[in-house]
Amino acid sequence: MSKKYYITTPIYYVNDVPHIGHAYTTIAADIMARYQRLKGNDVFFLTGTDEHGQKIENTAAENGETPIELADRVVVRFQELWKVLNISNSDFIRTTEARHKTTVNELYKQILDKGDIYLGEYEGWYNVREESFITETQLEEINKLPEDKRPRIDKIKEQSYFFKLSEYQDKLLEFYKENPDFISPKNRLNEVVSFVEGGLRDLSISRTTFSWGIPVPDNPEHVLYVWFDALTNYLTACGYPENIAEYENTWPADLHLVGKDILRFHTVYWPAFLMAAGLPLPKKVFAHGWWTVEGEKMSKSLGNVVDPYQVAEQYGVDVFRYFLMREIPFGQDGDYSNGSLINRINGELANGLGNLVSRSLGMIEKYFDGKIPEASDFLEIDKEIEKNALLTAEKVEKEIENIEYSKALTSIWGFIGDVNKYVDDMQPWTLSKNGETERLSTVLWVLAESIRVINILINPFMPETSELISEKINPENNDSETVNFNDSKKWGIVKHGTTINKGENLFNRIQ
Ligand code: MSP
Repeated sequence: MSKKYYITTPIYYVNDVPHIGHAYTTIAADIMARYQRLKGNDVFFLTGTDEHGQKIENTAAENGETPIELADRVVVRFQELWKVLNISNSDFIRTTEARHKTTVNELYKQILDKGDIYLGEYEGWYNVREESFITETQLEEINKLPEDKRPRIDKIKEQSYFFKLSEYQDKLLEFYKENPDFISPKNRLNEVVSFVEGGLRDLSISRTTFSWGIPVPDNPEHVLYVWFDALTNYLTACGYPENIAEYENTWPADLHLVGKDILRFHTVYWPAFLMAAGLPLPKKVFAHGWWTVEGEKMSKSLGNVVDPYQVAEQYGVDVFRYFLMREIPFGQDGDYSNGSLINRINGELANGLGNLVSRSLGMIEKYFDGKIPEASDFLEIDKEIEKNALLTAEKVEKEIENIEYSKALTSIWGFIGDVNKYVDDMQPWTLSKNGETERLSTVLWVLAESIRVINILINPFMPETSELISEKINPENNDSETVNFNDSKKWGIVKHGTTINKGENLFNRIQ
């Protein structure tokens, strides 16, 4: 059995309903999952929810419900959204599930047996009203507030279990050095390296100040720190430790996709926990950037939170997926604006892809009774399209493998532009008028073949559109299960005589 390709999203807190940030990571992961499947790989794609911790406990209390009631209510919002957005996850994990507790206990035990967990005292600045420890930086911020606005901050000590993170500084640095692709993009690697070089203190991994969490084995006065609990989800879902065969066939993860804000947890704490437990490390952690909305930070108080349901409903799921991946290079920050969304719909989707498909198929219907005609002598300009198709497919393959989604879409749309220009230059309508049937046949065959290639390349990004195009170019044999990415790197597959069906436009222009 060949090892599965294992990809994960972060698990999302249930104290908030899903927004564009959550949708962004999940769609990005879905694209890789779909691409890997098109390459013939067996994929395990995991997403889920992070349901423990003080934040959840507090939010639930504010709402007058129990934490599990809150979780049960909000988790559905995530699960339903993923259905709407065509997310093809293989599993959905909730940290409140029994299977997860088993795994957390086991990981804890492994690390304890190794001698890397000890009971100590945690000393820190504590925000009394919010019942949580704050960092030195947060303290500095608070001290800048006018005196009467400052929350009460006490220096308190509590018993806590510690993980000997300090012992992993050199091991981590060595690991980063030997695995330069572990952290992506490159500039993020430098960030993490300087953080670790700055020195690592042992990590407090338990709390006694709240109770909504997984109890520390053998000392239920303590609950486990939410990040110890949360990160372990990646092991739970692949069967560790109870289903060893499945675990061995799945772990380590090939790719953890995360936002830049949680990179440190995934590239410092997580690998250190795994090293301590003697388990293999994930192959890659990729951190994407953050969205602002119309130039402003997205926040509930500003009321500018983008609701993925609403955008998908208004403009279409694939339009939303396309826009998120095209608008900003994956890894960088960027801005979400309605103006830019509409420009891309009208320009790239309706005029670009939509128009190419509708006019090409329209001409096949008009001139050849809806049957793809036969190609004969290829001219230089036809061969140019063939060459571009192959180059594009190869480029897109590399770009997706490098998680350069925006580049990949730019490459595909570059080719769409070439093919649209080919239509303008060839003027099939003139060929028809002049009775040059043989030449017209070749040109329309080249168009059908180009659309076939484009349709494979867009498949991971826009699965619904891709299916629609398959139904148009080959209504009798459009089984999406049989799509193979490598067929985008071939030329000459479209069969003449195939009946097409132009049908409706793929995208509507927005006025
Ligand atoms: N529960 C933790 C993750 C645990 S993983 C073992 C968590 N959850 S979260 O719900 O707060 O955030 C999840 C993801 O959403 C993060 O990757 C974060 O970067 C992403 N985003 C939240 N707001 C965002 C934007 N405005 N833009 C892009 N992504 C953002 O952290």
